[in-house]
Amino acid sequence: MTPTRYSRPMMWLHWLSAALILVLFVVGFVAARVLPFSSPLKQPLFQLHAVAGYALLVLTVVRLYYKLRTPQPAPPAGMSGPRLLAYKTVHALLYVGIFLMALSGINILQQSGLGISPFFDPRGLDFEVLPAVLHVNGKWVFAALILVHIVGVFSYQATKGDVLSRMGLGRG
Ligand code: HEM
Ligand code: HEM
Repeated sequence: MTPTRYSRPMMWLHWLSAALILVLFVVGFVAARVLPFSSPLKQPLFQLHAVAGYALLVLTVVRLYYKLRTPQPAPPAGMSGPRLLAYKTVHALLYVGIFLMALSGINILQQSGLGISPFFDPRGLDFEVLPAVLHVNGKWVFAALILVHIVGVFSYQATKGDVLSRMGLGRG
């Protein structure tokens, strides 16, 4: 039978991933833009950023594997053609965005000649390499996508009915 809400593991994976993404944005921004190069915090923050990015990548692979292997709820009731298409497209693009941000991040290290270890020395980073350009600019596209997702969720909740409880928020 098709479930009416996401399973517990899918809820945990969603909220853990969302929390990691918040940490990635804040820590990435502070490490790259706020702290001067002389700051002793720069290296640990960059390393925390990379560890969180790797963790998100692993969680997302597990999430997609689990999603494909277990029954998933049908889309929320009452979605029309274009709205249903937008719902599916935004969800797919959020997964694509996670992969592109994480893989471009790892590729910055590789192209800077630092290997792939998250425990790198940020003094060796080359900010001119292509993956760095993609990572720095891609963050805006990714953030906009997340905003569209959140606006979509709350607009459905306000006009059509409860959707938050499908992801474990509220009683439903
Ligand atoms: C970094 C932030 C976030 C990302 C990357 C994200 C990603 C996703 C993805 C990919 C799905 C689809 C799950 C699937 O079917 O595979 C989803 C569903 C959902 N998200 Fe988020 N999300 C984020 C933040 C939020 C926030 C802040 C809220 C609400 C306050 C939220 C509420 C929901 C709800 C209610 C669903 C279920 C939609 C449905 O019923 O089908 N998400 N999210
Ligand atoms: C979804 C995952 C990720 C997100 C959302 C993210 C987000 C960010 C953000 C917001 C910045 C600051 C950019 C700026 O304004 O200058 C940044 C910088 C950076 N991130 Fe990530 N990141 C992710 C994954 C990773 C991973 C996995 C690595 C490496 C293993 C990584 C390495 C870096 C590096 C080296 C920088 C500094 C480079 C630069 O600013 O050009 N990131 N990231």
